Amino acid sequence: MCGIIGYVGHQQAAPILLDGLARMEYRGYDSAGVAVRSETKGLQVYKSKGRLQVLSDMIHGGADVEGTLGIGHTRWATHGEPNDINAHPHVSEDGRIAMVHNGIIENYMEIKQQLLRHGVTFKSETDTEVAAQLLEFHYNECHNMLEAVGRVLRRIEGSYAFGIICADYPNALIAARKDSPLIIGCGENENFIASDVTAVISHTRDVIYMEDGEIAVLTAEGVNLFNDEMDPIDKPHSHIDWDVSAAEKGGYPHFMLKEIFEQPEAVRKTVSPRVREGRVVLDDLRLTKEYIQGVSRIFIVACGSSYHVGMVSKYNWERLLRRPVEVCLASEFRYCDPLVGDHSLVIFISQSGETLDTMAALRETKRRGGRTLAVVNVVGSSIAREADDVLYTWAGPEIAVATTKAYSTQLVLMDLIALYLGDLLGTIEKTEYDTILHELEVLPEKLERVLASIEDVKYFASRYFNHDSIFFIGRNLDYAMGLEGSLKLKEISYIHSEAYASGELKHGTISLIEPGTLVVALGTYEPLFDKAMSNVVEVKARGAEVLALATEPFKEKMAHTADSVIAVPETHPVVQPSLGVVPLQLFAYYVALQRGCDIDKPRNLAKSVTVE
Ligand code: AGP
Repeated sequence: MCGIIGYVGHQQAAPILLDGLARMEYRGYDSAGVAVRSETKGLQVYKSKGRLQVLSDMIHGGADVEGTLGIGHTRWATHGEPNDINAHPHVSEDGRIAMVHNGIIENYMEIKQQLLRHGVTFKSETDTEVAAQLLEFHYNECHNMLEAVGRVLRRIEGSYAFGIICADYPNALIAARKDSPLIIGCGENENFIASDVTAVISHTRDVIYMEDGEIAVLTAEGVNLFNDEMDPIDKPHSHIDWDVSAAEKGGYPHFMLKEIFEQPEAVRKTVSPRVREGRVVLDDLRLTKEYIQGVSRIFIVACGSSYHVGMVSKYNWERLLRRPVEVCLASEFRYCDPLVGDHSLVIFISQSGETLDTMAALRETKRRGGRTLAVVNVVGSSIAREADDVLYTWAGPEIAVATTKAYSTQLVLMDLIALYLGDLLGTIEKTEYDTILHELEVLPEKLERVLASIEDVKYFASRYFNHDSIFFIGRNLDYAMGLEGSLKLKEISYIHSEAYASGELKHGTISLIEPGTLVVALGTYEPLFDKAMSNVVEVKARGAEVLALATEPFKEKMAHTADSVIAVPETHPVVQPSLGVVPLQLFAYYVALQRGCDIDKPRNLAKSVTVE
């Protein structure tokens, strides 16, 4: 959601804050702001609606702003429309305290009423301003900032990551977190806070992951941490080892395109360390044969594209494990009184590891005694830390809001886990095990081949980009893959699009097919290719324009009926969606490009959804 940065040190703070915000702009981009304290000018606050560039231009890249202590924010609006006033930082009434916040304060209305009764006046509609005013209220009572922060945290309900500076504390930056990510970057004579390590990696690789309930006081010289009882605590530091260039565009026009092209490497990094002598080795997984034999239900819980990985995995896991697998949207699962118990294994899939709905579902599962396994990309993220077991996808940092390489690495990791568990359970034939594993190992080369046919996809995108409604149809794994293709398209091109199980069309949706309607027919699941063809015939008969996807051996057959066909290399059916999804990602990308959309930062969205 929102991105927070904070700096205390000996350098000019504002350019550092702007640079950090630029690296986190994918988290939210409807307004941005900074607050910097200087000896001569006190607390200076600059904020503005719109992209970060507007703010940066206003303060000449930060050069205009004096001071070595500051906080910054890029916003994804929850309370109050995106405008200058609702932009962060929010400042208390007497102008001494500035605050940036990520999360939602659920009881803000009640607190606001109380403060209004004390004569406090408000400028914005935000919950964050309420927290800033409450902090001033308590600070005026106790005259100790840390104590006042503690009182505020005890009073508010909801989720937060806070960055706070106060004119009376010229050398201190205060941070607190609960259910919203926040890290501390430890430099030499300078320290940072940020929502994400990408914001500080160009300054330091030495980070501390803050946990719920913790408070930190940062000065240039050091970091003091406290638990929710205000007792001082020590925490281990983590070293970030990925390269800073991984979070830069490296010559590509958009992060999304760069990340699409990084898929072969990301898949290789996720698969190859886990294959030894023809077997899947999951060193970090502590599930024993006895445990897995006793599992009666498997749930996969996630949101958005990660949920779509769950949909593909349901088909694959049921085939390979012969166990029922239920795929649930995290936002539904947490409130549906889920039938999770001792014999349930619940898998949580999340790129960011910070998605609030998924996090809440994980906590609910643990509360009910279910065993939790997280498949996560961001190392040290909240979901990764709280799950009983975690397996990482090694996609590297993903910046584009529309996920591509994280989705692909999640898919292959789920395949590896299925092979591993199927082997423990004895439910996979040796030849099938060997074939799938081999196909996963050679997948990067096949992905390179798909990426080499980019010109075909570009051409089809230029032919179809002006459709205003597009249907994706497919059966079995093609249906699950179509869900992702359709989401990619609507996310970044704003074209209305739906994915349907082809067999369902005749139960209602086919009434929407009229002459010229674009149908993307997915026919890569070879066992049901003939059925897929019949559905193509059905929609063609009603005048649809059909762009089809088929495996290379089936391309010609598909071309007899469909208007255009994109072919992908053939692999084992379990692995096929990993190849099929790539032309769909590219199609969405080029359609969005033709339509002039802001591909990496689509409207109304944010990369990491840390609100409910
Ligand atoms: C995908 O393109 C989306 N941006 C979105 O659906 C995303 O997959 C979803 O919000 C879940 O995020 P997570 O994987 O970080 O939990």
